[in-house]
Amino acid sequence: MKKIVIAIDGYSGCGKSTTAKAVAKALNYTYIDSGAMYRATTLHFINSLTNITNPREITKSLDAMKIEFHKNEVTGFQETFLNGLNVEKTIRQMEVSERVSDVSKIKEVRTALVAQQHRLGKYKGVVMDGRDIGTVVFPDAELKIFMTADLTIRAERRQQELLEKGDLVELDKIIQNLAERDRIDSSREISPLKKADGAIEINTSYLDFEDQVNNILELAHRQI
Ligand code: C5P
Repeated sequence: MKKIVIAIDGYSGCGKSTTAKAVAKALNYTYIDSGAMYRATTLHFINSLTNITNPREITKSLDAMKIEFHKNEVTGFQETFLNGLNVEKTIRQMEVSERVSDVSKIKEVRTALVAQQHRLGKYKGVVMDGRDIGTVVFPDAELKIFMTADLTIRAERRQQELLEKGDLVELDKIIQNLAERDRIDSSREISPLKKADGAIEINTSYLDFEDQVNNILELAHRQI
């Protein structure tokens, strides 16, 4: 069977990763969370006290960073490792969420991560989610999805996710963070978040999760 690349882009917290994971599982594809790579880079910069206004420091810090994904044998899902340490949980915390969009604006960061994303998707059979996957990373992806959802609904879902991980965060704080990230991500100079040419838009505000996944699977099967 032909293997394809599925690119899922969209606003913060609209369910891209849960959807992408389910689609990847159904097709026996690899799921790649590009946002986790930007989050891990942000954590690396925080840990190494990198001055993100100094390009030389950024380059040096990037040279000392290794991001990998390893499958958790219990859950079956990929987890993010930074220089050998499992950071899957840490990178979802608010401290990282509040800084990640500023780190994602940096040219050197995007060049390094996009190169790694190209390597990861080289043999196809991947579902990758992010902000620039259909526009920049894999503009020739066979299937491109652009996901949206109402801000409050997205924030409520994110709050629930954080709560399940033991983090109680006020709804207002999450709304503010999602809106601010969307603003920075959509207005940045390099690879701004926008709907890719040929992308199919799905508003998930009132969609049943299963329908949403089946919808994408049906579109994927037309290409395979
Ligand atoms: O997908 P997630 O919300 O975890 O992404 C965190 C942040 O990483 C986004 O708000 C955005 O700033 C950045 N990002 C990006 N390009 C991608 C994926 C994520 O700039 N392809």
